Amino acid sequence: MSRPDTVVILAAGQGTRMRTGWAKVLAPLCGRPLIAWVVEAALALDPARVLVVVGYKAGDVEKAVAGLDPKGRVRCVLQEPQNGTGHALQVCLPELGRDPGTTLVLYGDMPLLESASLAALCDARALAACDAALLTAFVESPRGFGRIVRGTAERFERIVEERDATPEQRALDEVNLGVYAFEGQALVRELPKLGKANAQGEYYLTDVVGALVAAGRPVATRALEDEVEAIGVNTLAHLAEARAAMQDRLLEAHLAAGVYIEDPASTFIDHGVSIGPRTRILPCTVIRSGVVIGSDCEVGPFTHLRAGTVLEDGAEIGNFTEAKQTRLGAHAKAKHLSYLGDAQIGARANIGAGTIFANYDGKTKRTSRVEEESFVGSGTILVAPCEVGRGATTGAGAVVVKDTRIPPGETWVGVPARSLARRAKAGEGS
Ligand code: UD1
Ligand code: MG
Repeated sequence: MSRPDTVVILAAGQGTRMRTGWAKVLAPLCGRPLIAWVVEAALALDPARVLVVVGYKAGDVEKAVAGLDPKGRVRCVLQEPQNGTGHALQVCLPELGRDPGTTLVLYGDMPLLESASLAALCDARALAACDAALLTAFVESPRGFGRIVRGTAERFERIVEERDATPEQRALDEVNLGVYAFEGQALVRELPKLGKANAQGEYYLTDVVGALVAAGRPVATRALEDEVEAIGVNTLAHLAEARAAMQDRLLEAHLAAGVYIEDPASTFIDHGVSIGPRTRILPCTVIRSGVVIGSDCEVGPFTHLRAGTVLEDGAEIGNFTEAKQTRLGAHAKAKHLSYLGDAQIGARANIGAGTIFANYDGKTKRTSRVEEESFVGSGTILVAPCEVGRGATTGAGAVVVKDTRIPPGETWVGVPARSLARRAKAGEGS
């Protein structure tokens, strides 16, 4: 496999067609921004460096890519103003130097491209010893992509942007994905020569390819095998389409690892969720990034697990229960209508139906603890911070007020909750 020396990811555009005001490449896709997926695919090729061209909301995009590579190979280059995809490469010229080596160019709005397809493109260029190879796809709907025009003997001739295309060219079904592998010296030689005589008055990167062909240099193409990888995000409708496709991939990986997902169609699992084998995920469940689930657990139906939640082996959570920043110990259960916020719950504890961990006092969020083998009665409210000791019990509807520590083994009931034994001694009714 030939690897690229340099990868350039174009991510400076605003994405006006999204109509959201976000920087398009920061749009969320299964728990992380579009750009993170693209940078990850690039890093999987083990390049010497990755340049991300930033412009609109540059600071936010820089923050999103910082830390994606522990080896620090990712650098941002500012493009201001944004005068087109060719201009985006021109602003990289000082970084690229005279010979950037094999240079792969990607767009930050194509999160489904897999590194294997990118590697295959680099291979196609190396094999044909061409100055450039470009990735194409045969698609049912061209989604505004540039069309690939071929001449005699199906030889690649040029790319025509949709807005510059004739009706016959618009009917072509092979499109340019905007992904190129260049021989570095040829790229830096051609970039300064770009003009902007086109419908948008911008510098088009596609014209580099055009110039190479005009100079009689061969250009290779490589068609994608799976059209799904070609999904580019220009609108919110495209984002929804990309999310569904990425979700399928993530769910397939969990299924292959022995996670039983009863109904993938109603299950949402973000990137960065770890789930042990033999765990059952029941329908209508949403699991956000950063959640860790052990083996032999049961989650759902209708369950929302948010960041920082850990389920230890054999834990069960379900039926309209939400958990955030919570640890549910081994074989502990919270099976009905509960909110577990900032909760530390010990092994084999039982959290009764309708229990609420009231973790927020309007200013600060605090943690509460329920120790091993305790039994929290239905409808208990635990006002943080508080603690239910090992093997202790709360009665139905108890309100355990702030700073309460129920000693191990005791039963506390009422509002505010007090020791049942002490209430009995004082002659109070229950
Ligand atoms: C581009 C291609 C088109 C291809 C399509 C595939 C050109 C001229 N056209 O069109 O052939 O079919 O991608 O998706 O290249 N960007 C910058 N700086 C700029 C302009 C754009 O960084 O000045 C970035 C954007 O943030 C985006 C990417 O480049 O990530 C592509 O820009 P976009 O405007 O979406 O290009 P398309 O019109 O889709
Ligand atoms: Mg685009």
